[in-house]
Order: sequence, then C-alpha cells, then structure tokens
Amino acid sequence: MAADPEDEGRPFDDDLGPLAVLAREGSLIDPGGHAPATPHVIVLFGATGDLAKRKLLPGLFHLSRAGMLPDCHIVATSLDALDEGEYHDIARSACDEFARGLITNEHWGEFERRITYVSGHHGVHGLADTVRTLEATFDTEPRRLHYLSIPPHAADAVVRTLGEAGLTDRARVIMEKPFGTDLHSARQLNSLVREVFDDDQVFRIDHFLGKEAAQNILAFRFANGLFEPIWNRQHIDHVQIDVPETLGVESRSAFYEQTGAYRDMVVTHLLQVLAFVAMEPPTELEPRSINEEKNKVFRSLRPIDPGNVVRGQYEGYTHADGVAPDSDTETFIALRCEIDNWRWAGVPFFLRTGKHLAEGARIVSIAFREPPKSMFPAGSGVGTQGPDHLTFDLADASKLSLSFYGKRPGPGMKLDKLSLQFALHETEESDNVLEAYERLIHDSMAGDQTLFTNAEGIERLWEVSQPLLEHPPEVQLYRVGSWGPPAMRELIAPRSWRLPFERGWRQKR
Ligand code: BG6
Repeated sequence: MAADPEDEGRPFDDDLGPLAVLAREGSLIDPGGHAPATPHVIVLFGATGDLAKRKLLPGLFHLSRAGMLPDCHIVATSLDALDEGEYHDIARSACDEFARGLITNEHWGEFERRITYVSGHHGVHGLADTVRTLEATFDTEPRRLHYLSIPPHAADAVVRTLGEAGLTDRARVIMEKPFGTDLHSARQLNSLVREVFDDDQVFRIDHFLGKEAAQNILAFRFANGLFEPIWNRQHIDHVQIDVPETLGVESRSAFYEQTGAYRDMVVTHLLQVLAFVAMEPPTELEPRSINEEKNKVFRSLRPIDPGNVVRGQYEGYTHADGVAPDSDTETFIALRCEIDNWRWAGVPFFLRTGKHLAEGARIVSIAFREPPKSMFPAGSGVGTQGPDHLTFDLADASKLSLSFYGKRPGPGMKLDKLSLQFALHETEESDNVLEAYERLIHDSMAGDQTLFTNAEGIERLWEVSQPLLEHPPEVQLYRVGSWGPPAMRELIAPRSWRLPFERGWRQKR
C-alpha cells in the first residue's frame, strides 16, 4: 500500500464506530486502515452538479459522521451565484435525499460548519484567497484535495486555473471520468495535467473500482486457490458485464448529449471491471503492480469492431431539454469485445448498459464450458438452463453465486439448476460497507492510488475505441422499460443474456 508517509502512524480510535473498525480490520487495500491524519482543504468543483448532490456531498457527510474525515474545510465552488446559506440548503437537501441513515442536527451542524461556498464569478483569485484564509486556521500546513466533478470539456480550464492560482502545492487532484472524449483529447489532457501536477498527485477516479463487490473480484480470484486454475479459455465460454439502469438521463441531458452510453459507462466503468476479471495475478496489492496488469489486459484488447456493437436510444430521449431533435447519442450500448492473449483468446466478453431499461442491475457473469459429453438421458434436464455460471452482483448489497446442475430429490435422474450463494447483507459486516465514492475519497486523502486508473490505461482504452467512435453504427430506438433494441439478442446469440434472471437471488430468511 502506497500511502502518504505523513498520514501513517495514527490508527483509528476504537470508539469511532463500525466504519472505523472496518477500515482497520477489513479494508482490502490497507489492512492497517490508517486515517488520514493531515488536515485537508477539499475544493469541490462542480459543487451544484448531479454527482455532487447524489454522491459526493452525501459521501463526505457520511465520512464526517463516521469520524473518517481528517480535520478539514470543504470549499464548494460552481458557476452558480449563491450565498453560503443557499449552498448549505442545497447540501442539506441533497443529503436528506441521498445520504444513508438518519441525519441528526449534531452531525449535520458539524458537517455544515466545514463547508464554505465560493461562486466561480469571484474568479480564480477569489477561490485561492478563500482556500488560503481557511488554511491559515490550521496549526499545521494542510493538504489540498481538488475534486474535479466537471464535464470533460471543462477539465482543461480548471487544471490550468489550479496552476495559475498556485493551488497545486501540497495538493492532490481527483479527476472524474470520462477522462477526455477520445484518444486525442485524452492525450492532450494528460499532457496538460503533467505540466501542472506530478503523477502521484493525480487520482483518476472510476467509482466502479471503489465498489466493495468489484474489489471482491480481486479477493475471490487471488486470495483463493480454487478458481484460478479454471479461469481461462479452456474452461470459460464467455463473460458478461451487464449494467442496465432504470434511471433515465433526467437533468443530466446536457452532459449526456455530449457523452452517450459508451463514453459514460463502457470506456470507463465496464472496461475497468473487465480488467479486474481478466488480469493476471499482480505481484503486489499496490498501484504499480495492479495498473501494470490492468494495462496488459488493455493492450491485449482488440480494437472495438463497430460490427460487434448495437447502439440504442430510448423513445422520447430527443424530447428532453438540451437534446437535439435529431440527436444520435446512444442511451444504450451492447458490444462484444475480445482479449487477444494466451488466457483469453477466443473467449468473447459481452458488455451491455443503458438507460430506462427494464431493471437496474450490475452483474459480472462468467459462463463455464459445458461438459464435452453427457451420460444423462434426454429429458433429464441437463444443459436446459444454460451453462454453469459464476455471478458477481456489483450492487451495494453485493452478492456472489455459483450455479450448477444437481439432482432433483426423488426417483429417477432429473436435474435442476441449483446455486451456492453468498450475500454481503447476510453477514455481520453489512453495515460497515463504504459506498464507492466514500472509499475512494478516503483513499485519495491517504495518498493511495491502488483503486485509481492511470494515464496509460486510459489512453489505450480510447485507442481501442477509435474505430467505434469514428464509425458508430446507427442508433436503434427502444421502448422505455424494455431490455434495449432487439438486435442485442443477435449480438450474443446463440448464447443469451443472463438478465433478467430466471431465478431470483435467495432472500435472507
Ligand atoms: C456514472 C454514470 O458514472 O455511473 C451514470 O455517469 C450512471 O450515468 C452511474 O448512472 C452508475 O453508477 P452506480 O454506482 O449507480 O452503478
């Protein structure tokens, strides 16, 4: 674990509650679970945006309530002309809507006191002055954490601004995805970022890597001897990474119109998860080893063939404010990709995601090859319910299931699909889960880049995306509440999508 040496050495107090105990005992990356001891000024760019409201403010509030924030001030900034009271109201209603658990006045008061709002209209010097004034209130020199929760086209200007305002010393910067919009813009942004920051200051966030269940893929694969021997082309038929959403684009249409499902979800989250599934065992659980292995997967990815892609748009999308009437932005995408290396050659990876679909789910499903011959008579049921699967559910209440054929009790030899299931919510640790953003903000304050992406990997992902970005297939309309355009079935045939599940997850008794 590569943490800031300044931050080491102060263990959590036992009385900070269950989250602190989890951080000490159960954290995947930092079994020591040291709290960031150095005071921080966190500057939140895009502080009135959707992400800030849904995830960042509730996440920071949760960390504050759990005693997992160091001594810190939060400087919220955006282009909206608001006074501090108005911003506090926005922050409070965001936390009321999206934070977990009851918000007591005491916890809220403590959190609100940390937040100062600076409108972008005060210019870069207004922001810098506020940061410096707040820094002067600490006894020791604080660290700066800049969170750039802004769309890709705004990233250049903000990075430059930070440089000009002299806010880069003692600083770390979290950059939101998508990082650029294609290979060219990603390279440009990376070179600008390198002019202003050193590499170890930059935290390119992909919140899927902060999900407990995504990290469990690593634990499952590399902490056990059971599955690794069959984790290859000899035994695996195909892999699905499927993230349908019931949410529409709603107030984000201006952002989404420029982005679309591929840039928003695939080149970012789904391919990062694919790397966790496909990578070779890293030599250590630290950023360089993990990123080396992920980047090898990305280097082996074949360029995305537009012929293996289905793009869809839900009916009515073009009626939303900020969307062009003839928009061909995709709100759905399904594709097949291949990793051309010894472990995976010939094993298709099917990826799917979209808005306004029938169900919200986030699953990774590994389909094993069927036995080469069957001794079971016709009509026994063997093979009728698809191959054996290992399924990771990446939802916050994460689950894992291994399905297989077993004998139905009674006379004869009828076979049914059975499953072994593990659900995090059935364990005593379930209250301890950190939401992905909480986990990653916490890691970045401790200087731990293990669960962040790096420039080389991101550029390679844009490189393999170029054929699709240059020659996107036409978008096909689909009904709100469906599973996407019918062509997504042909894409995967003769196999079929796991979702919707034929059997539900077992419920806790
Ligand atoms: C975000 C995308 O990065 O991830 C959103 O911009 C998407 O469009 C979201 O809804 C999904 O994340 P989660 O954690 O809710 O699965």
